[in-house]
Order: sequence, then C-alpha cells, then structure tokens
Amino acid sequence: MKFDQPAGQNAIDQLKVVGKPIDRIDGPLKTTGQALYAYERHDVQARPAYGYILGSTIAKGRIRRLRTDRARSAPGVLAVVTAENAGTVGKGNFNTAKLLGGPEIQHYHQAVAVVVAETFEQARSAAQLVEVDYVKAKGAFDLAEAKAGAGDPKGGPEQSSTGDFAGAFASAPVTLDETYSTPDQSHAMMEPHATLASWEGDKLTLWTSNQMIAWSKGDIARTFGIPPENVRLDSPYIGGGFGGKLFIRSDAVMAALASKASGRPVKVALQRPLVINNTTHRPATIQRIRIGAARDGRITAIGHESWNGDLEGGSTEVATQQTKLLYAGANRMTSQKLAVLDLPEGNAMRAPGEAPGLMALEIAMDEMAEKLNMDPVEFRVLNDTQVDPEKPERPFSTRQFVACLRTGAERFGWSRRNPTPASVRDGRWLIGLGMAAGFRNNIVMKSGARVRLDGQGVVTVETDMTDIGTGTYTIIAQTAAETLGIPVERVVVKLGDSDFPAAAGSGGQWGANSSTAGVYAACMKLREQIVQTLGYPADASFTGGRVRAGRRNVTLASLASNGPLVAEDFIEFGNLGEKFQQSTFAGHFVEVAVDSFTGETRIRRMLAVCAAGRILNPKTARSQVIGAMTMGVGGALMEELAVDTRHGFFVNHDLAGYEVPVHADIPHQDVIFLDEVDDKSSPMKAKGIGELGLCGVGAAVANAVYNATGVRIRDYPLTLDKYL
Ligand code: MOS
Repeated sequence: MKFDQPAGQNAIDQLKVVGKPIDRIDGPLKTTGQALYAYERHDVQARPAYGYILGSTIAKGRIRRLRTDRARSAPGVLAVVTAENAGTVGKGNFNTAKLLGGPEIQHYHQAVAVVVAETFEQARSAAQLVEVDYVKAKGAFDLAEAKAGAGDPKGGPEQSSTGDFAGAFASAPVTLDETYSTPDQSHAMMEPHATLASWEGDKLTLWTSNQMIAWSKGDIARTFGIPPENVRLDSPYIGGGFGGKLFIRSDAVMAALASKASGRPVKVALQRPLVINNTTHRPATIQRIRIGAARDGRITAIGHESWNGDLEGGSTEVATQQTKLLYAGANRMTSQKLAVLDLPEGNAMRAPGEAPGLMALEIAMDEMAEKLNMDPVEFRVLNDTQVDPEKPERPFSTRQFVACLRTGAERFGWSRRNPTPASVRDGRWLIGLGMAAGFRNNIVMKSGARVRLDGQGVVTVETDMTDIGTGTYTIIAQTAAETLGIPVERVVVKLGDSDFPAAAGSGGQWGANSSTAGVYAACMKLREQIVQTLGYPADASFTGGRVRAGRRNVTLASLASNGPLVAEDFIEFGNLGEKFQQSTFAGHFVEVAVDSFTGETRIRRMLAVCAAGRILNPKTARSQVIGAMTMGVGGALMEELAVDTRHGFFVNHDLAGYEVPVHADIPHQDVIFLDEVDDKSSPMKAKGIGELGLCGVGAAVANAVYNATGVRIRDYPLTLDKYL
C-alpha cells in the first residue's frame, strides 16, 4: 500500500480497539519470567557453550603480540578467536569501528578476543590468561581541546542559513550569546547486549537483542561476506535498547565467530563495563546559541552551532535539528561540526539530536525571556510558527505547540510562579518552577507484515518489527483487531524474526506509527481477498468476527475452514513528508526543590502535555512518556560518563558509577495528550510519542533550578558543585 495522499475515513477511525488503554500483552510473560530474552533461549539451544569477550586495554594503537596458548589449555576451553585466526571479518554499514579489533586498535574495550568454554566461569577465567602486548599511540580524548580542529562530517557540511543572520543579530536590540555543554551519556538499558549464535553449514542464526532486524541482518551478512538469506536474526523480547541496539555489536559478531570455531552454539553477553566502552554512547556536545529579538519579544535572529566528537568516519549529533523548525524568525543559521576523538564510537541514544539540542536551546529561551522581561511561556507563544521557517511554503501537518504550552501552564499552576529567582522557600528548601518546549520530528519508514486467518477465526500477525518494552505487541494486536473486526484476544502477534516481512523496526520514535500502518496494509489486503472470493461489494464491513454485506454475512472462521488465508503487504510512504513538515510537540513543566545548604535537588512534580497525532493506546503511550520524562531528569541531574582524558575511556562504566533516576525519585508525574489526528502521517493518523517525552525535559529542570536558586547552570548535569 502506498501512502501518498492524506488518509480518508478508514477502518481505524472506528476506534473500537485502537485508542483504548489495553494492558500490554507481553506484560504477564515478562513479570512471570516466561518471556525468554536472548541469553535465556534454552527453548532453542539446550546446551550452548559460553563466550567471554576480552576488550582492549588501550584506546589507540596496535597489538604487537598476542598469546593465547595458556588460555587454550585452561579447563573447559573449546576455542579462542582473535583477529589472527578469525578469517576475514569485515564491517557493517552502521558500525564505525570494527567489532573485532586487532592488530589495529580503534578504541578502549574494542573486542580483541573471545574465549569459548563449556561454562561461563571457565570462559571468564581463561580470558584472563590471554596475553596481549600493546603498542600505545597518542589519541585525542578531550572534546573541548579537539573542538578547534573540528570540521565537516564525511557526508559534507551540515549547516543551514536563511536571511542575514549576522546582520540581524548585530542590529537586534536584545541579544543572547551563550555556550552550553552536554556530557557523554550511556543508554543504560537493563538487558546487556547478548546473542546466542549457531551455524548449520553456511547458515547462521542469531538469537539476539536488537531493535532493527532488517538493518542488522544486512550488516551481519556484510560483516561475514555471506548472502543475507543465510542469516536469521530472532529478537522477540528486548530488555531496553534506547538506541544502543539499533545496530549489531560485538556480542553478535563474536558469538558467531565463537560458534564457528567451536562447532557449538555459543552465547555471549557483554559484561556491563563492555556495554559502556565497547558499544556506542551519546557523544558530548558543546553548543553555542545566539538569539536576537525586538523589544516586543519577536525573534529576529536565531543561530545554533554544535560540536561533538567521534571516531574517524563517524557522525555528528544533530543537536541543531529542532532549531531549524521550532521558532519563527526571518534570519537563521545552524551548523554542526565534528571533531575526531578516539573515545568509543558515538551514535544514537534516546532521541538523538533533539534531546541534547533542546537541553541547550530551551535554557537559552528561558534566559532570553528574562532579558526581555517576558514570561517564558508567552515568549514561546509569541514566536510560534505554523510553517517551516526555512521554507515558508511548507506548513506543519499538525502543530498544536501553543495549545501544549497553554494547557500545561493552566494545569500546572504556572500563574503561581514567582519570576524572581530564589524567592520561594519551604523550610530549608528553595522552590522553583521551570518549563521548556518539547519537539521531536516524526519519521515514517516502509514497513511490512503478514497476516494469517485460521479456522478458529484467530488472526496471526508476523512482522520483524520489535518490541523494546514499548508496547508494540499490543498496538499491533489492536490494529489487526480493529481492521478485521475481531476482539483483540483473537489476535496473535509474532515479532522480531527476520524470516517475517521486514518492518520499520524500533528507533527514532518511528516504530509505532509505521509498523501499525504496515499491519493495517496487510489486513486490508486480506479483506480485499475475502471480499473478492465471496463476491461481496467492496464496501462490505468487518465487524463482530463476520464479513457483512447487506443481509448476507459469514464468519471469518468459516472462510478458513479448509486452510488458513494469508495476506502480506507493506506500507510505503510517498512525498507527503516533503510537502508537510511532520513533527510532534510538547510543553514540559517541572517543580524542583533545592536544599539551600547542600544543593541537593529534588524533583517535586512534572507535567508533559503532548500533541503527537492519534494516540494508539493511551496506557502504553503514557508509560513511554513518563519513562522518557524520567530519563530527562537523569540527563538534567545525574547522567554523565566521566572521560579519562589521559587513557581515553569512560571511567564510571557500570550502573553503580553511572547514575540514572528511577520513578521513585519523582513523586508526581502527569501526562496529557491533546486530541489530534494527523491524516498526513499514515492511515493510522498517529505519530511517534516515545522520544517526545524526553525532548525538552532537561532544560525544564535546569530552568526550574534557576527559578529556585538564581544560579544559571549551562553545563549538564546540574551537580551540586555547580551551584556554588
Ligand atoms: Mo532510538 S535512540 O533511535 O533507539
């Protein structure tokens, strides 16, 4: 099904099942331990061997000599694989560094060996006997130092310019020119990267934990130089990904190599320090923001430059993305520069781009409102735009930004905020209110599915779409139930297997809208087949488990009494996304309390008002948003990978040293979804919601801290030392 014009009235609009707060189908399986994660797949391989990865202890240089003989003769050891005996191991499109290092070392904890043994303990113990003699080279590990040498990324310059920014900024009566910084951060998902690998002849199966099955199948094939049809990935349950599992990582590649070398199925989980230094992270940014405005508060000039580091050939953090679209203003510029750093590779993490970008932009907006002596909500409302400010002929498909701000202000009690900082006390606590805009683009991706109707009237949906804890199983079941007119209990959803039709996958908050649209397409194809076979008119209805046309009707189950009916289709998207800018919007409001003696900061309450198209399931959507808000608090107050700038690694490489907040840290979180359908996003009329909940939260916290204390902190996270 091609989606290239606005959706008309369709089966989803009935909203009998879609739009209902249905409990997660996978919930009981997960809370009772019946959902098997990659490292627990005893259902497919009863007696696997265990692989243990050895990571490089230098960040840059090469291996002079590597001795594995002692490890090989240790108890239980089946094989030791290194670059010397692995054969040709290439690289996937989505990886910057090689997943098996040596003799060249590209970053700290790059995998240099995998030891395979009968038990995990034997493999871990023998790995200590591998002797690696390194020649260390000088590396660059400090973004602030490397920034001066930053240039354009591999694909060419990432910049935009509209009007005359420099002239307008120079002549603006009220201006701001400030620099903000965000640290390196780690995904910190619960389940580490893990893979169980097995070869049968030249066919490789990986039971793994992965967000993007089709991308990763392709990259495994590229890495080993084998045809994609010889690769199968299966990833039905994923214990969090947050961008860290968008691509294959060393657990998958090393498990496959280990299985080949030992002739056994082998499972590998990355130990927590390797999750941090062996895989990807969100790179630190330095961001300069300049805003010029007339005295009435209208923005006349807005500029946003961002710098980050990555390995040679790596990519930029697109931190300026929202600044191109969020506020009006005739004169604008954005620019992103990349410095070469020899730290582990940077990549997507929890709303890449907008999340760190808004951490800077939305403090700048708060500062600017204060300079203008305006309320921060009113300043943003005044500078709303209903069209792409760089291309005014392009309207937003929907944009309820002002309604998000107004609703949020009213529901949060914003009028009770005292704009004078450090003026409200509760005993020893200083109390502050802050707000920020939330913005995240809505991306759509081609997505396929197969549906099968059986003689019991049960519909099975198969797609390689993943559920990373987001609710995919549930919204896909709702979509099929709505489209085919059956109860949601009559739908079985199977996900994450590369043998199923390729889907959008989970990333960039595109999964929910795109994958359900693919399921809708497959269900509509099944409906067409049924209607044609029956000779019913095309507008026959599907309700209550029956197909009905006038006085004729028949049960779905009876149609499949001689064997299942199967239909497969995909949704692909035309150029509506070029004609209409598709984005999601929020208003984030936060109340903090800061201990006036120690600087300890506590979140007291939070509110997010979101406008993001049709909400397919308000329960799973709300869970996504409150989880994201919690991550936003982490980014504001705690999360920071500490860089050892001498040796080039992240020091706090475990969950004891890398702190994240939990829900118990935040006593009150509220989420409001504004009514919205976007007929230009897909037949579902939905948009992404998961990552929107995070975008803007960090700045809302920082602005609340400023309101509480009068201390303006522009360097995240807002730790106690910075209040002095
Ligand atoms: Mo998301 S960071 O695109 O998984």
